[in-house]
Amino acid sequence: MSAGILLLGDRGMLGRAFRELLAARQRPFTGFDLPGLDIAEPGQVGPLFAKPWSTVINCAAYTNVDGAETDEMAALRANGTAPGVLAAACARTRVPLVHFSTDYVFAGNARTPYAVDAPLQPLGAYSRSKAAGEVAIRQSGAEFLIVRSSWLYAPWGNNFVRTMARLTRDKPEVKVVNDQRGRPTCAQHLAASTLALLDRGKRGTLHVTDGGECTWYEFTVEIARLLGRTTIIRPCTTAEFPRPAPRPAYSVLDLALTEAILGPMPDWRTNLANVVARLEPL
Ligand SMILES: NC(=O)c1ccc[n+]([C@@H]2O[C@H](COP(=O)([O-])OP(=O)(O)OC[C@H]3O[C@@H](n4cnc5c(N)ncnc54)[C@H](OP(=O)(O)O)[C@@H]3O)[C@@H](O)[C@H]2O)c1
Repeated sequence: MSAGILLLGDRGMLGRAFRELLAARQRPFTGFDLPGLDIAEPGQVGPLFAKPWSTVINCAAYTNVDGAETDEMAALRANGTAPGVLAAACARTRVPLVHFSTDYVFAGNARTPYAVDAPLQPLGAYSRSKAAGEVAIRQSGAEFLIVRSSWLYAPWGNNFVRTMARLTRDKPEVKVVNDQRGRPTCAQHLAASTLALLDRGKRGTLHVTDGGECTWYEFTVEIARLLGRTTIIRPCTTAEFPRPAPRPAYSVLDLALTEAILGPMPDWRTNLANVVARLEPL
């Protein structure tokens, strides 16, 4: 008998969305995260596969984009090597692997949305580690579903919506970059859409984000509007906010394949309103 779903990184932002979703749907699962399980330690991963899982969903990742610039090895271990080890174990035990990747695997200099088969051109250390993870899974022989997403937010965890909810509460004025364009993604929407794709037997690489697109400035204006904040929000350029890791200027992921399967993705303003209504204490 199947042991249900093995959910890795279940304490992270997306992991928690999966925990809530799987519990609500009464789908049996077992979750692991640091410090109990380090997916970058093959000696810890191997024994997990003694159980007959139905699917492995990997939400575990090194997600400190700027931190990766000074510790690329840590990012590579968790995001590049570990997915390959997981995929090899999945191939051996014939269990499908669901894994998450990012808009950062692309250079971000396009003018039209990135198709799922657009060439990988990662710019920074985090981006390189995530691209390495994709490649390792594709080469493993495992049955896999890689879901690329972007700009994740949820009522919990470390994310842009919660940061801006706090800053627009605490500061009279906030400057936000207005020359990076992408697609925000509600973590609960990402989890539900991924489960729907999985249940329909979809495999390969697909994109899931909210519908529509915006800049970080436009995203912030809507967050503040929903919260009734009176803070002044000023648009600025990326050059005014230098960060250790390069950020893609245009990272809109093409949704055509996914929408042909699941129908239109809900607009980011709709998903954002639902998340803002549930925001946990800041
Ligand atoms: N956040 C975004 O905007 C975004 C955008 C596109 C794609 N993604 C992808 O979506 C996935 C989920 O991201 P998220 O935002 O939910 O990340 P998150 O909140 O940082 O959660 C990741 C979880 O993995 C854990 N973890 C880190 N290294 C691990 C290891 N070696 N072994 C086991 N667990 C480990 C983390 O524990 P600690 O907290 O203790 O480190 C954390 O609980 C990732 O693959 C990420 O690359 C995220």
